[in-house]
Formats: sequence, C-alpha cells, structure tokens
Amino acid sequence: MIACGPVGPFSGGRLSGEPGPDEVPSWAFAAAGERAQVETRPQDPHSVNTWFAALGADLYVPTSMIRGPESPEERGWVAHVVADPRVRIRLGGLVYERIATRVEEPGEYERARAALEQKYELDPEERDPARQVWIFRMDPRPSAKGPGLAEGAALLAPFKRELQQALREGMAEGTAAAIASCRVRAPLIAEQLSSDRVRVGRTSHRLRNPANAGPAWVTPLLAAYRADASDRAPRLVPLEGGGSGYVEPIVVQPLCLGCHGSDLAPDVAERLAALYPEDRAVGFATGDLRGVFWAELTPAP
Ligand code: HEC
Repeated sequence: MIACGPVGPFSGGRLSGEPGPDEVPSWAFAAAGERAQVETRPQDPHSVNTWFAALGADLYVPTSMIRGPESPEERGWVAHVVADPRVRIRLGGLVYERIATRVEEPGEYERARAALEQKYELDPEERDPARQVWIFRMDPRPSAKGPGLAEGAALLAPFKRELQQALREGMAEGTAAAIASCRVRAPLIAEQLSSDRVRVGRTSHRLRNPANAGPAWVTPLLAAYRADASDRAPRLVPLEGGGSGYVEPIVVQPLCLGCHGSDLAPDVAERLAALYPEDRAVGFATGDLRGVFWAELTPAP
C-alpha cells in the first residue's frame, strides 16, 4: 500500500480507487461503514480519514466532533475545503468526485448532526459548547454539459466566506462599528469576485441598501422561497442568451439580529437610520428568510 491515501489515523495524498458515479440515489449501501477517506486541495491532494453519515441521497462529513481543534478551520483539510470545495471521497472502494457544501440551514444541520451522533454513539446532551462542529454535504460535481448547482455553490463559496469574515472582524469592534465594515466591504467583495463571466451578489425582499437590488431574474426565485418557507434548496435557472442563474436562500441566524432584528441597540439604530433612511431590513427573527445569494454565469464566448 504505497501512495494509496490515508491508513489509520494518518493523512495521505491522492486517493486511489475506481471512480464512483456522479449521482447516487441512496447511500444506504455505505451507511454502516466506520470511516470514509476525503481528499482535499485538488492541486496538491491531501487525504484524511473521517466520520460520515448517509441519509438517503445525502452524504455528510463532519469536522472534529470530539477531539482535535475546537475551531474547525484549524484542521488542514477543513481549511482546504473552505478555500476550494472540490473534494474526492472514498467509500466502499470507489472514489466519488464531489463538492463539499457546508450545511448552514438549521433543520438540515440538526438532522445530519443527530445522525452522526447516533452512528458514533455520542450523547447529544454532552455536546461541548466550546467546540464548533461544521458539517459538509458531499454534493455531485457539475456535469460536463454546463454549469450545475454545484458550480453555482462553488462560485458563491468564497463570497460567503469573505462576507462572514468581514462581519466577524467588524463585530470584534462592536455592532455599531461593524456597520461600516458591512457597508464598505460587502460591495467590494462582490466586485472583486465578479469577472466577465461571473457576477455574484446578495439581495432581499426587504432591502437595507437599495443598491443591493438583484438582477431581474432573481425576483421570481426570491418570491418562490418566500411563498414556501419549507423550501430552502438552491436553484439553477437558464437565462436568456445561454447563461445560468444560481440562487441560495439566506436565513437569519442569531448573529444577524443585532443589525436586522427587532430589538436594536440605540447606537446601532441611530447609525442605521442615518446611513439607510429607507431601511426595510429590520424586524427579522432567527430562521426567517433574509434574502438570497445569487450568481450569474455568462457562457464562454
Ligand atoms: C453589524 C451589523 C450587521 C450584522 C450583524 C449583519 N448585517 Fe446584514 N447588513 C448590514 C448592513 C449595514 C447592510 C447594508 C450593506 C450595504 O450597504 O451594502 C447589510 C446588508 C445585508 C444584506 C443585503 C441586502 C440588503 O438588505 O441591503 C443581506 C442579505 C444581509 N445583510 C444579511 C445578513 C445576514 C444573513 C446576517 C447574519 C449572518 C447579517 N446580515 C448580519 C449590517 C449587518
């Protein structure tokens, strides 16, 4: 066994094995396995042994649930996935090419986490509050025919990551101070990640900044998410001229309430009122639809 990837708890390089299919309708056949191997960083492959849980057509891989660093990104493989979500995962001898999508929707997160806890016999009551556990869903890669959901997700990943980081850094100075960080950095990040072929952004049915109005094709998709609160799946739609549009719902988390909730601190409310006289983005509760992330792809000439 040389250069075959990880053995035991050690990490290895590129995974060997026959390629598995793009679509797997049910992972039940693999559910009982103890470990999977995940390969990250396509340009210089690195692989590790991981836990996983199979739920129907969805396959989930968690970051360290009991040992190792408390902050997920301190693990090399997690940092790789954040930088580039393309992974390969080996299960039952086959190697599947996938996109690792971090599960953010609370309902799905809890389902996946409960499945993992059950499988590895962890008591949910004993979750360590200091430990952050991220869960990645192993989504199919885009097909060769054109962009797919996974390519849309991959395009948005850096946008989401950098927004989160800007918010985190801003919040370290306090909520009122962080407003400036959102105001200045969010549009810059969107601009930096856009190119001739790709535009990304975020918008809402209740805008804070009118400049965040999205392209026209986003409107009906946003309306559909609003009409059915149980539908939070990403969507890909064909656009006129051969391009594609991708959207993902944005759900309000507790962290957002300081600036989008109903009970704003007076200094926050004052600053928002001064900067955004038409602000409609307050009064949200955790779990509400805040808006969508969108990505627009133009076909190559
Ligand atoms: C520190 C205050 C603050 C926090 C916390 C905050 N936001 Fe915002 N948010 C803003 C500001 C300011 C803007 C307007 C930025 C601009 O001018 O482009 C904004 C804009 C947005 C927009 C763009 C659409 C619009 O209304 O203009 C979305 C979507 C959004 N926020 C979602 C969130 C989510 C989700 C969270 C929690 C993860 C969050 N925000 C946390 C201050 C905040």
